[in-house]
Amino acid sequence: MSVLTESTIRNIELAPQGQLKIDWVQEHMPVLNQLRKEFEQGLPFKGKRVVVCLHLEAKTAYLAKVIQAGGAEVTVVASNPLSTQDDVVAALVAGGIRAHAWHGATAEEYQQHIHQALDFNPDYIIDDGGDLVSTIHQERRELIAHVKGGAEETTTGILRLKAMENKGELGFPMIAVNDAQMKFLFDNRYGTGQSVWDGIMRTTNLVVSGKTVVVAGYGWCGKGVAMRAKGLGARVIVCEVDAVKANEAWMDGFLVMPMLQAAAQGDFFVTVTGDKDVIRGEHFNVMKNGAILANAGHFDVEVNKVELNALAKEKRIVRPNIEEFKMKDGRKLFLLAEGRLVNLAAGDGHPAEVMDMTFALQALSLASLATQTEPLPPKVYPVPYEMDQRVARLKLEALNLKIDELSEEQKAYLSNWVHG
Ligand code: NAI
Repeated sequence: MSVLTESTIRNIELAPQGQLKIDWVQEHMPVLNQLRKEFEQGLPFKGKRVVVCLHLEAKTAYLAKVIQAGGAEVTVVASNPLSTQDDVVAALVAGGIRAHAWHGATAEEYQQHIHQALDFNPDYIIDDGGDLVSTIHQERRELIAHVKGGAEETTTGILRLKAMENKGELGFPMIAVNDAQMKFLFDNRYGTGQSVWDGIMRTTNLVVSGKTVVVAGYGWCGKGVAMRAKGLGARVIVCEVDAVKANEAWMDGFLVMPMLQAAAQGDFFVTVTGDKDVIRGEHFNVMKNGAILANAGHFDVEVNKVELNALAKEKRIVRPNIEEFKMKDGRKLFLLAEGRLVNLAAGDGHPAEVMDMTFALQALSLASLATQTEPLPPKVYPVPYEMDQRVARLKLEALNLKIDELSEEQKAYLSNWVHG
């Protein structure tokens, strides 16, 4: 059977337009390009099957192609039904990669796609948010013995993996790519910071300057979202539950207060906590007319949509990706992208130069698993320090930046406790 007949996609004729998008990002992903050359020589995935479950857009597509260049047979599946770009998926299929995904898949179709991808019987997986791992462990347990390992992309997925590990339920090794420095310091902070505002601005076409922006969660993503809101000229309020992070936000120059207080002041709200019900009924009740709600955390549970629906007397779509909720007292609140990751569901995700580093770590992590001589015990593993440093050095080279090196005397001084 051909890759096309084995795939479930919208329209293969969109492939040329999708290929142009992949070509564009490839030009801006020098580290991944370097790894692609190495993989073509070394073929670390020769004869292996890899399932990639990520937001299916041009950058992830290029990662799938790099893994394919390393000798793998690759299947892709979406990690979110709204972020899939049908033309990019078509281009992958035209290039010999199986795909099960289309934009706007229903919850049922989304589950079905994951199962179809798993029917491919992967040796290795890449997951984003843990849906693939969770499906394997709950519904496709026969695959556990076959999967030799995988890599996880995001904070929420790693929380879920660690919960499985703590309960002794994780069946194969997983590498926590999100926790590498070359990932979270750049992707979560600068990537989310820029792409969230890109998504909000292109969707609403409204001004940010002079507005009050409420950011819930001051982790790596929240820091980026708050920093960029400030740069756009907004007044920024941070809501946190962690006392240290709240101090950090205050010292970074932001107002800090509980959500109930912030709810009455905000023009734009962005949740980025990985938690549920961060904005809920009591908050909707005090919001200003016209408040705009967006989520950038992994799941669409941060803004409580059930309570928002229950409080609204009327609702309608007023622009693509903007739903208006008219409250009983006449106020209108607007939810972007159904409360899903606004930067991906209503944008193109992070910039290619940022994903270059994240996906280099993904590719190297997977290659390190594929070239292990002994199988690793089923645990969550950090990205090794040397791999993080290697990606950092490759990125500096691509940027044509040089840095100083420690002399032997300096190394000796820094590792000595006698000299002051
Ligand atoms: P993090 O763990 O660094 O930060 C999360 C912060 O939220 C913590 O400081 C925590 O104290 C705070 N928090 C938790 N519950 C809260 C609540 N009820 N109210 C206020 N603050 C609360 O996590 P990180 O890396 O910033 O990721 C956050 C979320 O964004 C995760 O779901 C992650 O998977 C997702 N993510 C999204 C990306 C995107 O492209 N939109 C990119 C990377 C991560």
